[in-house]
Amino acid sequence: MALLLSFFLVRWYWVLLAGLLTAVPSSADPSSPQHSLTPLLYTPLPLGTIKPLGWLRSELESMASGLAGHEADFYRFVTHSTWLGGDQEYSGLNEAFPYWFNGLVPLAYGLDDERLKGQVRDAVRAALARQQSDGWIGPETGAARNFWARYPFFLGCIQLCEAEPAMRAEVLPPLHRFVKLMNSMLHDGGAGYLLKSGDTLSEEDHGWGRVRVADMMITLIWLLENDPAGQEGILFENLEMLREGAIDWAAWYQEGVYIKEDLNSVPLEYTRANFPYEHGVNVGQGLKTGAVINRFSPNTTQLTTARRAVDWTFTHHGSSSGTILADERLQGLGPYYGSELCTTVETIYSLTYLYHALGDPSLADRAEKAAFNALPAALTPDHWGHQYVSLPNQAWAADLRAYSPTGETPYWNVNPLGNIYGLEPNYPCCTVNHPQGYPKFLAGSWARMEGGFAHTLLGPSRLEVDGMSVECVTDYPFSDVLTYTVNASSPLILHLRIPTWSTSASITSGSDLTRVSPEANGLHTLTLPSGSSTFTLHLSRSLTLEPRANNTIALHHGPLLYALSIKPLVTVSPHRDSSQGAAAGGQPVLVRDWSITNGSAWNVAVDPSTFVYKERGGGPSLPVWGPGGPPGYIEGRGCKIEWDVWKGVPGPVPLGRKCLGESFGVRFVPVGSMPVWMAEVPVVDLSGGDGGGDEDERH
Ligand SMILES: *[C@@H]1O[C@H](CO)[C@@H](O)[C@H](O)[C@H]1NC(C)=O
Ligand SMILES: *[C@@H]1O[C@H](CO)[C@@H](O)[C@H](O)[C@H]1NC(C)=O
Ligand SMILES: *[C@@H]1O[C@H](CO)[C@@H](O)[C@H](O)[C@H]1NC(C)=O
Ligand SMILES: *[C@@H]1O[C@H](CO)[C@@H](O)[C@H](O)[C@H]1NC(C)=O
Repeated sequence: MALLLSFFLVRWYWVLLAGLLTAVPSSADPSSPQHSLTPLLYTPLPLGTIKPLGWLRSELESMASGLAGHEADFYRFVTHSTWLGGDQEYSGLNEAFPYWFNGLVPLAYGLDDERLKGQVRDAVRAALARQQSDGWIGPETGAARNFWARYPFFLGCIQLCEAEPAMRAEVLPPLHRFVKLMNSMLHDGGAGYLLKSGDTLSEEDHGWGRVRVADMMITLIWLLENDPAGQEGILFENLEMLREGAIDWAAWYQEGVYIKEDLNSVPLEYTRANFPYEHGVNVGQGLKTGAVINRFSPNTTQLTTARRAVDWTFTHHGSSSGTILADERLQGLGPYYGSELCTTVETIYSLTYLYHALGDPSLADRAEKAAFNALPAALTPDHWGHQYVSLPNQAWAADLRAYSPTGETPYWNVNPLGNIYGLEPNYPCCTVNHPQGYPKFLAGSWARMEGGFAHTLLGPSRLEVDGMSVECVTDYPFSDVLTYTVNASSPLILHLRIPTWSTSASITSGSDLTRVSPEANGLHTLTLPSGSSTFTLHLSRSLTLEPRANNTIALHHGPLLYALSIKPLVTVSPHRDSSQGAAAGGQPVLVRDWSITNGSAWNVAVDPSTFVYKERGGGPSLPVWGPGGPPGYIEGRGCKIEWDVWKGVPGPVPLGRKCLGESFGVRFVPVGSMPVWMAEVPVVDLSGGDGGGDEDERH
């Protein structure tokens, strides 16, 4: 309800915004069409050529046997979607089925799971069988048409065509008909995209399509590169008209426009007028926009803007777990703000795209940071439950009203149950959208580059394409040792990414050891002979302290964020329906809500000089993102300090830090492996000899 109410409140600002931002698309000037595409630096490989190994396979298998792999059996927004002739939607945007499809395709083909592939084929056939006579795909008719929900559906379609070329004959002709219809709609005053008189949709409804348009552009570019079907002119024209009508991210990432402060300190009129740029999922999706536009409309300013978008977003609104602090709307850097799971998976996808386009080493590091920290932190190890929002300092994942006498929460617009783990802790978008996370990370983990292949995102996986295979066996991100086995019929060039945090790197092959330092692009290039070869890449990580707001620190070890472990007290209950939905019924018994409270103190300050990294030996255990899954932990000492609960969560970290008693042992573990944690903690100096009590509060 809160969500709907505030959408109502922001509605009139969209009208205002329309005046500022609407550019009526003109037909592209035929004298100056750019009829070529700028290639990506690293070309993605067809879906299905990369398979997960090790812990990553186990994660995807859990997704298949968890919520992602069963939504098609019971979840009303999938099974009874308007896209399939049903009547269940959580909003008039009709985006649930498209979101689900976009995540299920890479999961099904990443795993080669016949059951899920069957769900994918059935779904695409059912949706395309309902294509309307004028070419529209989706349930909407007439003035209710809005391009937006087609973006994730089409992204699923192009992935499917890569993974299963036999499906092209069924999937692509309907897409081509839609492309033609889109062209005539855009010529018709921007129907489906811009507000037209007589529309039943609002400016706000169209705003989703205009601010998220990069996701549609990716499909149009894919068609140009893979199957233009003689419609090159129309495809380029559509791209150009979409660009002209877009809500322009380049206008937002400008000094004096962009909000670098905590948004709550900025006049409400200003934040409301800029809401499309501040909505977390839009930001996550939008990060890649400049690089996508640059493919058909080369412009170095766009690339500068894309880099600035990443830089400013994470500097001013980023969390230590690699995601964006936005509980519906960007907030600031407070560890008491939430990050939406949809934002996290979109951010990983955008950063992967940006890395493939721009090649900046930091982009890949950022993609991994979100994928190895923010993403697993928001999921139960069995992949049946997810959070809507996660907090940097999340001492409990429970009904915040139990901790907030006034009922206030720190969120801009999320209900007080938004950080429990369950089926629909708040809005149902993340229920259907979160499954794209690991499958798309996997699909982006190798790419074609300069006569060979690049390992762009590290982890255990196997690439098999063009008659060659390369397998990377590793416990990364829990280990620095990656063993590659290559099998090729001719000499092969491999580019290995050396993360920027790695203090040194070497390669061993048999008894040979070679020290390697990455080239400027962060890669190390190897030329391998034909036949079979094996070598091992050794990276080297150390503990690093990231300074966070108000003299706090976040503790990193290579790609992993370690957070103060809080003992979880778990209450499992049947699924509580979200405010949006009708009673679901018929759910698998594994659909539950997990409410977690703190079984130990959270108001702890630590002395970083005491930190020591330890391993229990034996490598990770499965599920790897469950308690005790990761092999490593960090021990140190800390003490309790006075620190208040504020609006139902651990409040602003106090600037005065006096130990309330003797110090004790503390343990930090990877944030993705537990449901409650403190990730951004204050620092104290315990060297003054505070008595050093022996009480041990490890968990
Ligand atoms: C490049 O993009 C920027 C930002 O969108 C725009 O202001 C500029 O006019 C573009 N330049 C060209 C040559 O199109
Ligand atoms: C920093 O501390 C001040 C004073 O307690 C507080 O008002 C502010 O919200 C804190 N900032 C953050 C980002 O936590
Ligand atoms: C390498 O390729 C050859 C020829 O395709 C095949 O017979 C062999 O089993 C492969 N070896 C490995 C380790 O994949
Ligand atoms: C959990 O946090 C609450 C709120 O600060 C606190 O009152 C309680 O003592 C904590 N529980 C434990 C076991 O420390």
